[in-house]
Amino acid sequence: MLIEQFNTYLIDSELQDGSVSWQSPSNIALVKYWGKKDGQIPANTSVSFTLNNCKTITELSFSKKENNNQFSFEIFLDNEAKPEFSPKIETFFKRIESYVPFLKDYHFIIKTENTFPHSSGIASSASGMSALALCVMSIEKLHHPDMPEDYFNKKASFLARLGSGSACRSIEGDLVVWGTHPEIEGSSDLFGVKFPYAVHQNFKNYNDTILLVDKGEKQVSSTVGHNLMHNHPFALKRFDQAQENITKIKSVLQSGDLEEFIKIVESEALTLHAMMMTSLPYFILMKPNTLQIINKIWEFRTKTKLPVCFTLDAGANVHVLYPEACTDQVLEFIKTELVAYCQNGHYICDKIGFGAKKL
Ligand code: DP6
Repeated sequence: MLIEQFNTYLIDSELQDGSVSWQSPSNIALVKYWGKKDGQIPANTSVSFTLNNCKTITELSFSKKENNNQFSFEIFLDNEAKPEFSPKIETFFKRIESYVPFLKDYHFIIKTENTFPHSSGIASSASGMSALALCVMSIEKLHHPDMPEDYFNKKASFLARLGSGSACRSIEGDLVVWGTHPEIEGSSDLFGVKFPYAVHQNFKNYNDTILLVDKGEKQVSSTVGHNLMHNHPFALKRFDQAQENITKIKSVLQSGDLEEFIKIVESEALTLHAMMMTSLPYFILMKPNTLQIINKIWEFRTKTKLPVCFTLDAGANVHVLYPEACTDQVLEFIKTELVAYCQNGHYICDKIGFGAKKL
């Protein structure tokens, strides 16, 4: 299926060579995307905070080549050749080719680096794929200099989605919705949109401290994980629940109701893991220290009444979320009580950010 809105009618361009660079952040979902249909279409709507410090920086150099019958690229991570990433990039290029038909005209050198440690167990696909999609869009813009910014961002998100679903939520900030929802104006299955309503002060500069419980390779790739939702006994119920949680979180984000925010966010994290525990094959991606941290957060919250909560990705690391107003107390708590459960005592302080930047 070709989405006409994003077709590029190419001109035989004079553009011979050059290079473009972008930095693009990771994001953390509050209502989770877990399960998809063909063509990277999400089974339910998701919403995320864009992060600020965890990001990928990518430089894409291009030079016109003789023939245009195949893709040609080299990829480097921290200046080291990474031929093992080629299949993922090849798949990405194949998926986006019809929307950016100049891809086969050039040889590309992709140089990329992350601001977070490689083996942190933090997914780099959202920041990595969004950075690459933005670089591709910058080349398209060199062909079409008067491209409006709104179209640029939308199409960058559209392309990023075809690389990795969650990547479409990393182009802009500070809150991004992906997936059509009747109560979110402008929402689409094809790209992420900025949360289109005024957000309460409580959620400005929200913190996300990422506790690195297990820095190993992901035990279950997201592709395998999403596939587990096909024929999953609870899938339909789960997709409905996510849609309802979007309705709830929409009003929470406007009203600033932190108690309700915590309920939705923690329930979403646990539901994601419950889906993995109840699929076939089944997985437990939390580690004993993940549970220790969750229990400590609950104790701390009961004792102090501070609105701190957790969320999880498809792994053992814990994202500790809290408003700017309680930064000092929560950081002190993390240092004295939670760091002991992190691998080598490692954690990353991040907070809500405002999207990708051209370099
Ligand atoms: C648990 O975006 O990594 O982080 O589309 O297959 O690349 P692909 O999946 P991916 O899935 C992310 C799943 C999640 C939840 C979320 O970010 O919404």
